[in-house]
Amino acid sequence: MDRRPIGVFDSGLGGLTVVRRLLELMPQEDIVYFGDTGRVPYGTRSEETIRHYTSEDAAFLLGKNVKCIIAACGTVSSVAPDVLSSLSVPAFGVVEPTAAAAAAATKNGRIGIIGTAATVRSGSFARYLRRMDPAFNVTAVACPMFVPLVENGWIGPDDDVAIPMVRRYMQSFKEAQVDTLILGCTHFPLLAPIIQNVLGDVVTLIDSGKETASRCAALLRDQDALSDGNAGHCRFYVSDRPEGFAHVAEIFLGRSVQEAVETVAPDALTLERG
Ligand code: DGL
Repeated sequence: MDRRPIGVFDSGLGGLTVVRRLLELMPQEDIVYFGDTGRVPYGTRSEETIRHYTSEDAAFLLGKNVKCIIAACGTVSSVAPDVLSSLSVPAFGVVEPTAAAAAAATKNGRIGIIGTAATVRSGSFARYLRRMDPAFNVTAVACPMFVPLVENGWIGPDDDVAIPMVRRYMQSFKEAQVDTLILGCTHFPLLAPIIQNVLGDVVTLIDSGKETASRCAALLRDQDALSDGNAGHCRFYVSDRPEGFAHVAEIFLGRSVQEAVETVAPDALTLERG
């Protein structure tokens, strides 16, 4: 039994889709969340910069005495898995659990992936899928415009900006006749209703939040590190102005946010580049 909190970080608020699933699955766990809102987006940056930010974000959470760390960010999980595996507590990202769920879900072996530019460039999801079955037909499309859409809350099922954008990005998947689509960025589950409308019910959407939360629960169970007595208390930290956090966080978390959010000063994050 381990009552220390679970640490979760993302470039912004998308990782709260993982927190939502963690709280559904393990309401007895406390969570410390760090959203690097001062440096979002990560997905358009170089590998070197993403790896450096990953080290800093993880160091911040380690300073909060967490028992494990989830990189609730498709970009970090794709570009810096070795940074995660070198940490002093168990740490993992969204790629492996999400790819495994997609491999189990597909019937025709045609799988689509959407993510940030860095995620798609890394080939991370495709590599895992092909390891499971080299015959999978994989189509990956970077959807960088989805991130600002979601961070601004333009996600309603009738949103007249989001719908044409989703249609444009989904065209390749219709042509490729995928039956399964990986939402390879933790911001994207919020666009799932629009994506599902555009692709139709023939396509199964795989939500990285759900799969990653299940992986975390399994890991804590195996290590006998579940908490038995916490109340599911969340502490939220961001690296830019916290105004508006509660409003957007509520959309991601699917519940009201009463907890205070604290701002992390930039020098509290900075590590020497090495
Ligand atoms: N949440 C990040 C991810 O899953 C996307 C946002 C970004 O580009 O930083 O990749």
